[in-house]
Amino acid sequence: MKQARMALDRDFAIGQVDERIFGSFLEQLGRAIYTGIYEPGHPQADEQGFRKDVLALVKELNVPVVRWPGGNFVSGYNWEDGIGPVDQRPKRLEMAWFSTESNRVGVHEFCDWAKKAGSSVMMAINLGTRGVEAARDLVEYCNHPAGSYWSDLRRKNGAKDPLNVKLWCLGNEMDGPWQIGHKTAEEYARIAHEAGKVMKWIDPGIELVACGSSNLHMPSFADWERTVLEEAYDTVDYISLHQYYGNASLDTPSFLARSVEMDAFIDGVTSICDAVRAKKHSKKRIDLSFDEWNVWYHTNGRDQKYYDSRVWHEAPPLNEDIYTFEDALLVGSMLITLLRHADRVKIACLAQLVNVIAPIMTAPGGAAWRQTTYYPFLQASRYGRGRVLRPALTAVPEIETKALGSVPALDAVAVEGEDGELTIFAVNKDMQEDMLLQVDLRAFPGMRVLSHSVLHDDDVYACNTEAEPDRVHPTEGETGTLDGGRLEIKLPSLSWNVIRLGACGK
Ligand code: AHR
Repeated sequence: MKQARMALDRDFAIGQVDERIFGSFLEQLGRAIYTGIYEPGHPQADEQGFRKDVLALVKELNVPVVRWPGGNFVSGYNWEDGIGPVDQRPKRLEMAWFSTESNRVGVHEFCDWAKKAGSSVMMAINLGTRGVEAARDLVEYCNHPAGSYWSDLRRKNGAKDPLNVKLWCLGNEMDGPWQIGHKTAEEYARIAHEAGKVMKWIDPGIELVACGSSNLHMPSFADWERTVLEEAYDTVDYISLHQYYGNASLDTPSFLARSVEMDAFIDGVTSICDAVRAKKHSKKRIDLSFDEWNVWYHTNGRDQKYYDSRVWHEAPPLNEDIYTFEDALLVGSMLITLLRHADRVKIACLAQLVNVIAPIMTAPGGAAWRQTTYYPFLQASRYGRGRVLRPALTAVPEIETKALGSVPALDAVAVEGEDGELTIFAVNKDMQEDMLLQVDLRAFPGMRVLSHSVLHDDDVYACNTEAEPDRVHPTEGETGTLDGGRLEIKLPSLSWNVIRLGACGK
C-alpha cells in the first residue's frame, strides 16, 4: 500500500473559510428554474409554485449564496420583464441559449425562493445589451427603502421592505465571443467601473464582482484581468474566475489531475490582483470569486440541436450532465483546492444547482434526486466551515498523467470547526492502490476519530439516476488507529474521504 504523511498544527492556518465558497448558481437556462426549482402544479409545489422536494435538497446542501439570473443569459436580460403581474410579463426570445423565456420567475420570485432556501442572492447585471442605467435602476429597485420611482414600484409589486441584495456581478464572461454584447477588455473595464460606481452611489453597502477571464485558456487571460483591475480597482471588490473540466478522452488520471491546474489558476489571478495593487500603491486588496466551477462535458455537443433548430423551446432540457463517480472525485478535489485558498477565494459557486450541470436533478411532475457530485459538496459545506489548516504534506506518491505529467496522488486539506472538531478532506487519485495516510496530530491531544466517510465505486462511470438514485453514495470507512497523536488511516484507491476528529468522550 502506498503511504503519504501529513502534519497539522493550529499555528499553521491558511485562513478562515468565508462560507460563501459553498455558494451555487441558478441561471434562467434549460430546466434550472422551470421544472427545476419552480413547477406550479407539481404535487410538491408550495403556494408560490416552488418545489418543496427540491428546496429540501438545496437546504440540505446549506448554500449560503446563489448567483442569478446568469450566466450567459444575463447579457440579454431585461430585468424589468420579470416584475409586475405575471400574466402581463413578456415572453422573449432568449439568445444565450436560443430558448423562450416566459419571465414567470423574476426578481421577486427568485428572492422569495432564495429566502426559503436559506440563501442570499448574488445578482448579476446585464453589461451585454445594457449598461449603467439599467444597473442603477435595478439596485434602486432592490435595495432603496422607499420614496423613489423604482423603490416605490417594488413596494407596489409586493415587497415593502428592500430585497437587500448585497452581492453583485458586473456582467458575465464579457471576454467571450459567445457572449451577447461581447466586449474588449478596455470596453468592459470602462462600463464595469461606471456601472459599479453608480450602483455603489445608490447603495454603498453592496459588494461588486468584476468579470475575470471566462477560463484559464482564454487567449486574453491575464491581460484581461490586469486591464479590468487597472481601471476599476477602486470600484470593485472581487474578480471572478470560471472553470469547467471534462473528460471526453476518458483518461481518468489526467481528468483528476485538473485540480492542480485550478490551483495554479487561482495563484495566477491572485498574483495579478496583487501586482495591480502594488502598482497603484493601494491599501485595498481584491479577493477572488470563483463563481462558476464544475465538471461539464457529458452533454457538450448533444444539445446542439436545440440551438441550431431555432425552435426557441421553453425550458428545454439543456446541459443536463449525468455525473459519474469519477466526476464526484474531481468535484471533491476542486473543493479541496478552494479550501486551500481560503485566504483569497471568498466566494465560489458550484455551477449550477438544479438540472443544469447540477448536483440535483428533477423529473417534471416526478422525483428529485442527488447526483454523485452532491455528496462531496454536501460534506464540504457541512464540515468545511471554520479555519483551514495548511497541511504539511510530505512523501506524497505521484501518479503519471498524459495531460499534466507527474502529479500528487493525494489532494488533502483540514478544517478546524468552531466546535473544535477537525475534518480532513482527502482524495486518493490512485486507480490501483489504497493509500495509508499518516497524520501527525500531536498538536491536537485528546482527539479520536469520530467517523470516516468514503465515496468509492468500483465503476468510475457509475451514476445516480431517477431509477437508481442511490447507486453512488458515501459509506462508512475504516477509522484507522490513533496512537500517541499519530493517526494511520487507509484511503481506498480512487476515493473521496471525510475524516472527522473530535475530543475523546464526544
Ligand atoms: O453555467 C453555464 C454557462 O457557462 C454560463 O451561462 C456561462 O457563464 C458559462 O460559460
